[in-house]
Amino acid sequence: MVSMTYEPTRAVIESVEADAAVLILFEDDDGDRPGGRFAELTGGLIPELYARKEFAGKFLSKALIHRPAGFRAERLLLIGGGKTSEFDLPCLRRVSGVAVRALRATAKPTVAFDVPGHKSSESEIQVIVEGMELANYKIDTYKTIDSDDKGVAGILLCTQESVEAGILRGAAIAGAQNFTRGLVNEPGNILTPTELAARATSMAGESGLDIEVLRQEQLEALKMNTLLGVAQGSDQPPALMVVRYRPQHTTSEHHLGLIGKAVTFDTGGISLKPSKDMHEMKYDMAGGAAMLGAMRAFSTMRPDVAVTAVVPSVENMPSARAQRPGDIVTSMSGQTVEVLNTDAEGRLILADALTYAQELGCTHLIDAATLTGSIVVALGTLRVGAFTNNEEWQSRLLASADAVGEKMWPMPLDDEYIDELKSPIADFANIGSRWGGSITAAMFLKQFADPLPWVHLDIAGTAWQDKDAPDLPKGPSGFGVRSLVDLAMKM
Ligand code: BES
Ligand code: ZN
Ligand code: ZN
Repeated sequence: MVSMTYEPTRAVIESVEADAAVLILFEDDDGDRPGGRFAELTGGLIPELYARKEFAGKFLSKALIHRPAGFRAERLLLIGGGKTSEFDLPCLRRVSGVAVRALRATAKPTVAFDVPGHKSSESEIQVIVEGMELANYKIDTYKTIDSDDKGVAGILLCTQESVEAGILRGAAIAGAQNFTRGLVNEPGNILTPTELAARATSMAGESGLDIEVLRQEQLEALKMNTLLGVAQGSDQPPALMVVRYRPQHTTSEHHLGLIGKAVTFDTGGISLKPSKDMHEMKYDMAGGAAMLGAMRAFSTMRPDVAVTAVVPSVENMPSARAQRPGDIVTSMSGQTVEVLNTDAEGRLILADALTYAQELGCTHLIDAATLTGSIVVALGTLRVGAFTNNEEWQSRLLASADAVGEKMWPMPLDDEYIDELKSPIADFANIGSRWGGSITAAMFLKQFADPLPWVHLDIAGTAWQDKDAPDLPKGPSGFGVRSLVDLAMKM
C-alpha cells in the first residue's frame, strides 16, 4: 500500500547510514546557536548559513549539503519549518513532502528523517507518512522511455517512540488519496464509465466494501432521466456505483452519503466546448474519484458511522443521439428540467444521484464535483468552494478541512439565486445567466439535496494542479479525500 518502506530507528540521525539525512530547522532558530546541537556537529556550518541568509529556516525553503561534517549520511538536507509557533500538523505534512520531492530525482535514495522534537506522537508520524507518500506519487504512468525519476526507496524515521499505528494510518490515507489521483490521471479513452466501475469493483473487493453497479436498464427502471439524458450521446454506457461501508458496532443514527461527479470525458455535448484545453476534461470525474478514495480509506480507518458513496458516471459526447439544447427531462425526483446548455451536465447527473442517496437512507450529504469554470474564476486553484443548505453541517466539514490542510471556502447560497434558474416551460433551467455561475449550479443541486443537510464542494479549480509545488508534483491532487475521512472519523 505504500510506495516506500518506513523503518523506525532509535539511533540519532547523525549516526544513521543513508543517502541523505533530513533536518527541519526553524526561522526562530537564528538565536545564538541556530540548529541547536547540530550547530557544533556540523562544525558551525548551520549558523553560517543562517548568518549569510542562505538558509534561514523559512517555511519550505531548503539547502542541500554534500558530505556533511558530523553525519554518516552522504548528504544533509535542511528544510525550513517557518516559525515554531505556527508549525502544526499540516505544516509537518508539507515539510515531509518537500523532503521527498527534493531527493526523489537522485537514483532511489534511502532517507533518514529526524522526527521533530523526538516526541513523535501517532498523528505526527501519520502526517509525515502522508506527506511523503503524496510527494512520491508519479504522474508518468504511460512513459516507457526517459523515466529516470524512480522515487525514494525507503525512509528511516529517527524517533524514540513506536510508530506502527501512525504509519498504518498515514499509509491508508495517502494510499486512498493516491488511488484517487491515479483514477483522475487516466485518459478518457481508457477510463470509461465501465472501466471506472470495474476499478471501483476491484477496490471494493480488496477493501472489504460492498459495491453495486447500476447499468443502463436499472437506471431506466429508476427513472434517472437527467442522468440518462447526458449519457445518451455516447457509445459508452453509463454506470452508477453504490459503495457501502458499515461499521461493526455503532450508536450513531447518522448515515453519511458521499456523491461524486464522474464524467469520464466532458466534450460539452452539442453545446461543444472550444478545442483549446479540452483535453483537461478527462479530470471531470475527480469528484467521483475522491469519493471512491475516501471509501477505500474507511476500510482501514473504520469510522463509527455508516457511509454510502453514490458515484454517477457518464461520458458527455455530441452525436446524432445526443441530448439537444431545449430538451426537457424529468428527474428521478419528479422535478422537470429544461436543458438549455448540454455542457452543464454535471448538475444533471448529480441531481438523480442526490435523490438516490436520499432514497438509500442517507441522513447527511456531501457532494464533490468539478462543476463550474466559474469557481476557478472566483477562488483560483487554491481553495475549494463549499456551498450548503445547513451551516452547522458545513462548519463541521470546514473544521475537518482545516485540520488536514485542505483549503476550502464557504460560498453564499441565498434563496434569491433560484430566480436565475427560472424556465418558462419546466420547473428549472439547468443554467442561469453568465454571472455567479458556481452559485447557480449549487442552487440547482440544492433542489435535489433538500431537506437533508448537504454541502456541495466545487473542486473544478483544485482537482488538477498545473504547476509543481515544493511538496507535490503537478497533476491530479486527490483533493477532498483527507477532509472526508477526517469528518467521518469525527461523526
Ligand atoms: N466540467 C465542466 C466544469 C469545469 C471547468 C471543470 C473547468 C474543470 C475546469 C462543467 O461541466 C461545465 O462545462 N460547466 C460549464 C457550465 C456552464 C455551461 C453554465 C462552465 O462552467 O462553463
Ligand atoms: Zn460540462
Ligand atoms: Zn463537466
